[in-house]
Amino acid sequence: MASLHPLIAAALVVAAASTAAAAASWAAPSSPARPLFREYIGAEGKNVTFADVPVHPGVDFHFILSFAIDYAANATNASAPPVPTDGRFAVFWDEANLTPAAVAALKCPSSHARVALSLGGDTVFGANATFRASSVDAWVGNAVASLAAILTRYGLDGVDVDYEHFGERETPEVFAECVGRLVRALRARGVISFASIAPFANPDVQAHYAELWRRYGRDFDYVNFQFYAYPSNTTVPEFLAHYDEQSARYAGASGGGKVLVSFGTDPASGGLRPGKGFFRACRELRRQGRLHGIFCLGRG
Ligand SMILES: *[C@@H]1O[C@H](CO)[C@@H](O)[C@H](O)[C@H]1NC(C)=O
Ligand SMILES: *[C@@H]1O[C@H](CO)[C@@H](O)[C@H](O)[C@H]1NC(C)=O
Ligand SMILES: *[C@@H]1O[C@H](CO)[C@@H](O)[C@H](O)[C@H]1NC(C)=O
Ligand SMILES: *[C@@H]1O[C@H](CO)[C@@H](O)[C@H](O)[C@H]1NC(C)=O
Ligand SMILES: *[C@@H]1O[C@H](CO)[C@@H](O)[C@H](O)[C@H]1NC(C)=O
Repeated sequence: MASLHPLIAAALVVAAASTAAAAASWAAPSSPARPLFREYIGAEGKNVTFADVPVHPGVDFHFILSFAIDYAANATNASAPPVPTDGRFAVFWDEANLTPAAVAALKCPSSHARVALSLGGDTVFGANATFRASSVDAWVGNAVASLAAILTRYGLDGVDVDYEHFGERETPEVFAECVGRLVRALRARGVISFASIAPFANPDVQAHYAELWRRYGRDFDYVNFQFYAYPSNTTVPEFLAHYDEQSARYAGASGGGKVLVSFGTDPASGGLRPGKGFFRACRELRRQGRLHGIFCLGRG
């Protein structure tokens, strides 16, 4: 994991510089008071611990446990495809390292670190983690009960929504109602204090998240837009144009400011990579007072 540190450290420096250089720009109603850095952690069974990632004191830091998924192995045939469980979520992150005790240790009183879990993800047991719901009521009932238990057991603070595949019956309207009602119910129970979505530039994906945003956008604090899902030849001007497009699509009540920029640490990840101008683009957004936060997808 040591090779990740220079990139993440550089991102933290760029984010932290926002405090001094553009303090006024953070004052917009929907903007966080401090720069925000978020990292997905624990996917693909990688042996990563919270201690592998430096928590910079000048930055609010969110770890996002990846993933909680409403799928299970086929109980009668382990080589058959996994079975959707209609909103009954289970933990799929690296449970050996990312334990409730590790979360508690991270969140000491002086820490600016908070921890969320992400729902869905790309694949489960090698198959698409496709969003499936028998009905809105059934899915929401199961999801609220199972996730409230996981969030409480781990002492977590928020949820991120990262479904990337959708069934044919799971229309944008069905997805919006399921996820929107889930997030409202978790907030009402006091088990989360923030929520985000993680769309990327794909027509079916954008159609689903756009409907969720239209109906429930005010219930979400951040958009972890997957800028690393663009082609790997993305230039700085193209990146900034993508940022403008997605900020307009996912505008906040006060006119924007919820979209975070992102990079992948995997050499195979796409988008605008550190070393190819990512931090230059961040500094340009910061200069414009529009750098609201950075997140990173760590893949070892
Ligand atoms: C995982 O990390 C622990 C300690 O952090 C180490 O003892 C163990 O060997 C590692 N396992 C793998 C598969 O890398
Ligand atoms: C599990 O696999 C068996 C045999 O391959 C199949 O008949 C069954 O329908 C599967 N179960 C579910 C819930 O899909
Ligand atoms: C188990 O699932 C695999 C893959 O779907 C299938 O080829 C195999 O026939 C199944 N076995 C049984 C006993 O149903
Ligand atoms: C997984 O989903 C994508 C679209 O999201 C689809 O193109 C692909 O065929 C799916 N794969 C399988 C094995 O169903
Ligand atoms: C960038 O890559 C995409 C495919 O990933 C390709 O279609 C496009 O032509 C490339 N653009 C340039 C300027 O090389």
